[in-house]
Amino acid sequence: MTDRYAVFGHPIAHSKSPQIHAAFARQTVQDMTYEAILAPKDGFADSVAAFITAGGRGANVTVPFKEEAFRLAGRLSSRAERAGAVNTLRFDADGIFGDNTDGAGLVADLTRNLGCVLAGKRVLLVGAGGAARGVIEPLLAQQPAEVVIANRTVSRAQDLAALFGRGVRACSFDAADAPFDIVINATAASLAGELPPLSPRVFTADTLAYDMMYGRDTPFLDFARSHGAATADGLGMLVEQAAEAFTLWRGVRPDTAPVIAALRT
Ligand code: ATR
Repeated sequence: MTDRYAVFGHPIAHSKSPQIHAAFARQTVQDMTYEAILAPKDGFADSVAAFITAGGRGANVTVPFKEEAFRLAGRLSSRAERAGAVNTLRFDADGIFGDNTDGAGLVADLTRNLGCVLAGKRVLLVGAGGAARGVIEPLLAQQPAEVVIANRTVSRAQDLAALFGRGVRACSFDAADAPFDIVINATAASLAGELPPLSPRVFTADTLAYDMMYGRDTPFLDFARSHGAATADGLGMLVEQAAEAFTLWRGVRPDTAPVIAALRT
């Protein structure tokens, strides 16, 4: 029987995940389907249960269900535990396993696709919500000199930094005014077409500015570019987090480069 996978979200129609996983399945010759499922905002657990009953083997989870997926999983990877959120579920005979591949996806895109070395670098992480939290542990595993979290609501940045301890500190947007090697926008500002109020001094000609959002140029990337930085959007991260999930489910790692290239055209 063909194995079934899906992505759950609300909204979900815009998701590129079905296209990405179909490409991975073709490339690695896996007998599987992957669909997008719109779960009611108050019906995520029921939707997942129905999918499992119908033969679902695993799922991705996107906004707004990542925290609920975290609570739903009976077993968690350590990176999911630290992220406090789950974007990948695997339905095993003995229950639901939850993982979080977002941070690994970001790090893979930065290091493999963009040729960026994180070791010893100064990283500014902009935002202190779930998206930021999900990537901190995998970033720290690359041994940057430091990760500074800047957030509009400074107390959220402080609470987040406290979860990770050494190597991570919080600051306000005003206080972040020295150059960084890598500046990552993990705020929801780009979704609203807004610019986080960053100092232009964080950017130099050697800075890589990365927006986790993909699909269009954002005010953040425009601003960074106008101050000399190199820029990248989050499309590579999207494909890399999907590859990490696919590997967890199928035990075979797809080649992401042709899939990223196809999505770019
Ligand atoms: P997510 O799970 O996507 O991270 P979230 O938990 O709601 O969503 O967090 C959204 C993040 O974007 C927060 O860091 C938020 O800042 P506050 O904590 O101060 O609310 C940030 N954010 C949203 N809109 C923003 C804007 N226009 N400028 C700067 N930061 C913004």
